[in-house]
Amino acid sequence: MSKVFVGRVIPEAGLELLRNAPEVSELVVWPEAWAPSPEQMREAVADCEAILNAPPSRIDDALLDAAPHLKVVANIAVGVDTIDVEACHKRGVLVGNTPDVLTDSTADVAWALLMATAWRITEADHNVRCGQWGGWKPTDYWGTDVSNTTLGVVGFGRIGQAVARRAKSFGMEILYWNRSAKPEAESELGARRVELDALLRASDFVSVNCALTDETRGLLDASKLALMKPSAILVNTARGAVIDEAALAVALKTHKIRGAGLDVFEVEPLPKDSPLNELTNVVMAPHVGSATERTRSAMARLAARNILAGLRGEPLPAPV
Ligand code: DGY
Repeated sequence: MSKVFVGRVIPEAGLELLRNAPEVSELVVWPEAWAPSPEQMREAVADCEAILNAPPSRIDDALLDAAPHLKVVANIAVGVDTIDVEACHKRGVLVGNTPDVLTDSTADVAWALLMATAWRITEADHNVRCGQWGGWKPTDYWGTDVSNTTLGVVGFGRIGQAVARRAKSFGMEILYWNRSAKPEAESELGARRVELDALLRASDFVSVNCALTDETRGLLDASKLALMKPSAILVNTARGAVIDEAALAVALKTHKIRGAGLDVFEVEPLPKDSPLNELTNVVMAPHVGSATERTRSAMARLAARNILAGLRGEPLPAPV
């Protein structure tokens, strides 16, 4: 019988599983609208055997020191950049995440941002509402065509491949950059694995779908952004820190690239004084890459199942 700490209010589907489980003696859900501070987390987990962690809360050595009875950490996210997985494993703490159940949602959001940026939808919507639209003109509101162009996918895992799969119906050529080759996806999608520089030079749209790791932090810096076509659009639904955001703002402002569609940022929420806020060639969303009832409920259920398996000492359904 174990105490479980849930770091944020999560969909009922997950809470219900935990509430009704014989493995759980006490369920504590952090009730506030904001995430607990590191001190609050340390206090809350002192006598817990399981943590259902929600980003941006971090599981690091200091937190693990404060939770000596911990058996399992289940992240309600696929990205585990907020979790020191090695530190957990060293202490015998199992780690789980929520892959697969959000793949299609995140790929859809990448496409929503790609299309909105290509067709300048948010800028146009604003002008229609404000009465700044003077009527149809052959030379107004030109966007950029998506069909029959080239998509470059940075990180060709499940989500990157799902983004590419959608591109097929737009007749796009697909390039990808990934640590390892993906021969099955290559034959399914006709995708070609290339070096990152070659991908950036050739792509009309670049979708960032890699995990944030030491290798990918700041991957798209000023020198890499300079390789992109001036007509190209960059979309990021992975993690903000994969891109040097200050360099991106400069590239957008000086029209070194055409636009960007961003669901994730180096600092979230995006600071009010971010230079991105001044730009009309960027479409931004508040990290909604998995934000539907169906997907978030599936994530909550999978995170809860990871917790329960960990408490039983069984292999996790979605181990990291
Ligand atoms: C994920 O699942 O990683 C989402 O981005 C939420 O952090």
